[in-house]
Amino acid sequence: NASNHVRIVEVGPRDGLQNEKAMLPAAVKVDLIDRLSATGLQTIEATSFVSPKWVPQLADAAEVFAAIRKAPGVVYPVLVPNLQGYERALAVGATEVAVFTAASEAFNQKNINASIDASIDRFVPVMERARADGVAVRGYVSTVLGCPYQGEVPVADVVRVAKRLHDLGCHEVSLGDTIGVGTPAKARAMLRAVAAEVPMAALAVHFHDTYGQALANILACLEEGVRVVDSAVSGTGGCPYARGATGNVASEDVVYMLHGMGMATGVDLDRLIDTGAWLAAQLGKDTASRVTRARTAA
Ligand code: HMG
Ligand code: MG
Repeated sequence: NASNHVRIVEVGPRDGLQNEKAMLPAAVKVDLIDRLSATGLQTIEATSFVSPKWVPQLADAAEVFAAIRKAPGVVYPVLVPNLQGYERALAVGATEVAVFTAASEAFNQKNINASIDASIDRFVPVMERARADGVAVRGYVSTVLGCPYQGEVPVADVVRVAKRLHDLGCHEVSLGDTIGVGTPAKARAMLRAVAAEVPMAALAVHFHDTYGQALANILACLEEGVRVVDSAVSGTGGCPYARGATGNVASEDVVYMLHGMGMATGVDLDRLIDTGAWLAAQLGKDTASRVTRARTAA
């Protein structure tokens, strides 16, 4: 892939905040998304219409989504696990949703209380409604490089699930290293195998940084041709149903690396750093972004 442009999918307001101990008020979440909208990001995953019993941190999804200032040219996808979530999202005007399943049965049971097949059965009516409503659907495959319950995850399982989501009509499939255990050669081989079945242009990578491998993995996947990268400002979050998982790779660090490589993101790094530092202060914790730490050091 010769393209020089990488689209960052900012998942901080969703993946980041779903696993933070601090419960931010809805107004602060809205402020976060509005600040992110001013950085030049094109895609900001805003929240999640899942069961509030399962993820209390995002119980205010409707209130937050309705209040954010939708900047022109920015898309604000939201997670939906089923038709009930889709209807809640549509009621507040979502134009893109994301469905999510996994390559590992054990993880899927813990995360959404369903087998992989059963979860995909739930997506079918969501896809039908979305097609009729003109709503775009993104798909996530979790545990692509390892599972906290099953351990190793065969690449063939990742390929099969990613292909099913794409065949179902997902315009983009994001491959998630949920617990951040992958290493570059494994990440590259996994992506190459998926790209044999799903066009590279329809793939995104989603690395958690639990083992400090995320940037290296992203670089390997860029070399392989991927041009969509998920990340979270300030490196917040993780999946509450993935034991031991920590935050996503920090968006600031990804943007710094890409710009350093001469690649374009359209993102204003200084504004992103300011937003990440502001978010860390709101959460009462240190930022996980190395770039922000370096730039804001006294
Ligand atoms: P369940 O308990 O099997 O569902 O949960 P149910 O259909 O039996 O419903 C139980 C109750 O939830 C009912 O309420 C439903 O109405 C309600 P009650 O009758 O008991 O009062 N309910 C809902 N409420 C609001 N919105 C909804 C909804 N659906 C049902 N959409 C379910 C199944 C899927 C709902 C649940 O397991 C769930 O919400 N799980 C979400 C877990 C989650 O959000 N995990 C994190 C996101 S995935 C992730 O982080 C990975 C990713 O980042 C990629 C990566 O890193 O790998 C994407
Ligand atoms: Mg994630």
